[in-house]
Amino acid sequence: MGLNILILGVNGFIGSSLTERILHTQPNWSVYGMDMSQHKLQNCLGHDRFHFIEGDITINKEWIAYHVKKCDIVLPLVAIATPATYISDPIRVFELDFEANLEIIRHCVKHKKRVLFPSTSEVYGMSHDPEFNEETSPLILGPINKERWIYSCSKQLMDRVIYAYGKHQGLQFTLFRPFNWIGPKLDSVMDQKEGSARVLSQFISNILHGKDIQLVNGGEQRRSFTYIDDGIDALMKIIENKNDCASSRIFNIGNPKNDVSIKELAELLVKVIKTYPSHSALAAKTKIVTVDSKDYYGTGYQDTLHRVPSVQNAKQYLDWTPRVDLETGLRKTLDYHLRPQTEDIELA
Ligand code: UGA
Repeated sequence: MGLNILILGVNGFIGSSLTERILHTQPNWSVYGMDMSQHKLQNCLGHDRFHFIEGDITINKEWIAYHVKKCDIVLPLVAIATPATYISDPIRVFELDFEANLEIIRHCVKHKKRVLFPSTSEVYGMSHDPEFNEETSPLILGPINKERWIYSCSKQLMDRVIYAYGKHQGLQFTLFRPFNWIGPKLDSVMDQKEGSARVLSQFISNILHGKDIQLVNGGEQRRSFTYIDDGIDALMKIIENKNDCASSRIFNIGNPKNDVSIKELAELLVKVIKTYPSHSALAAKTKIVTVDSKDYYGTGYQDTLHRVPSVQNAKQYLDWTPRVDLETGLRKTLDYHLRPQTEDIELA
């Protein structure tokens, strides 16, 4: 089946990984992609089924309107997704993650296009359920002065708007909720500013730059880390939508078996980097210290202490289960970041 797929934010972690997979495995699918930069797309640019334009979703609105009309499926992946920015620039998070994306959703409604929207594990907030379920778990956020929740709240409102458009105006949609996806190209590990990256990239960056790893509030809080290839497997099944299995549904895409505390993540990362001869000395001298969240993020921060997905829906409807364990995911990510040195070692 031929498909034209529009990906906004195609140079992001998910967009670039998904595009690469599509181009390599689906000879009848084409990708039309927009982004402000292209550095994660080296393996895609120039491909005859990849049509890239450099642009900004808040500016190049005509291109977007035209391509929503022209394509079969739309993935609006542009969003700010680093917690430090939720607190330092909450208005920009709302404007981009909600307002700019709402316009795209409305184009999909108007032109009757299928939209696959990235919701987030963050919508569950501080939900008490031991496993978060798409249909039954309450979504629990903190008070307004805890500005961190503006991202969760913006995404939740968008989930509700999309769901309502689906129910009342026939929008074809699937909402997917990534749970702490990790892998090559997640964030730059060269940026040294604390809070500029998600936790794994931040910790790798700290080690590479000889800085301490900082555990916010002691690092007892837990996350279920999901390797990007597993996530992309799920997205491919959602796009394929065999027998409408993904239509009008919400899917947690996460790995409940990779549920660890942030402290355990730090310790495992140090242990794994020690096995790379080129970087073992750096890892050995890395100190793991504790920092108060007020000092790291500011007073607008509040955290969720556990975040485990139920993946029953994904299993039942998509026939998907995550396969990559955390240590393997870390090694694959490190092979990418430490590659030049790794190659040296292999040759030696
Ligand atoms: C993330 C982001 O909001 C989004 O990328 C995404 O929607 C979602 O969750 C997801 O990926 O599922 P969070 O898991 O809190 O939120 O983001 P990280 O920056 O990866 O932090 C994870 C945990 O590590 C937090 O408890 C944070 O306080 C801690 N941390 C982070 C540290 O202890 N030290 C650091 O240097 C950085």
